[in-house]
Amino acid sequence: MNKKKLGPLPMLWPHPTVLVGAEVDGRPDFAAVAWAGVVAGSPPCVAIGLQPHRYSLKGIYQNMTFSVNVPSRELVNETDYCGMVSGADTDKVKDCKFKVFYGTLKTAPLIEQCPINLECEAIHFLNLGSHILVVGKVVETHFSEDCLTDDRPDIAKVQPFTFGPGKYHAIGEAFAEAFKCGWEIKGKPKK
Ligand SMILES: Cc1cc2nc3c(=O)[nH]c(=O)nc-3n(C[C@H](O)[C@H](O)[C@H](O)COP(=O)(O)O)c2cc1C
Repeated sequence: MNKKKLGPLPMLWPHPTVLVGAEVDGRPDFAAVAWAGVVAGSPPCVAIGLQPHRYSLKGIYQNMTFSVNVPSRELVNETDYCGMVSGADTDKVKDCKFKVFYGTLKTAPLIEQCPINLECEAIHFLNLGSHILVVGKVVETHFSEDCLTDDRPDIAKVQPFTFGPGKYHAIGEAFAEAFKCGWEIKGKPKK
């Protein structure tokens, strides 16, 4: 198989597209973030990479809290906008008509229109060079009831989207059973 070396790139597709919320100088701000992921299950932790000069990062340092909001496809314009303008220059909540609410943490603003909202306590910061890695312990999860099927979170209803270079991509359909299809390789061991 022919491979082309592209050099050292953080190319870990797909990237989620989320809106990170922080209270900066007492006002909610949201930044689009694609360098984000789940990093632990117990306690549940997520991590985001933010450039040191981000206005939203200032709010995370001020309160040691932030939110991760997962937008659905219908919020793509608002998400893109939150990735192009800074809260230092404009009120993105007003511009995007976000309905903001607060949960357990009183300084982690959450967006009602996003089907998933994670309230996070910032527990680690690591300077990696271009970006500061912020690890957040999830203290509460808010999930839109209309994205549940039989009371269980349904990704097909959430309609999250990923960020590829220059484009947003929809998530495809389910195509295999997890923790099951792998047994096709050699048969499930009989204990
Ligand atoms: C799709 C998308 C993904 C982005 N991902 C990141 C990211 O992972 N880290 C980051 O620091 N900035 C990222 N940005 C840029 C910030 O969202 C942008 O600089 C924003 O204006 C920051 O807002 P703030 O100044 O209010 O914090 C991204 C922008 C877009 C459009």
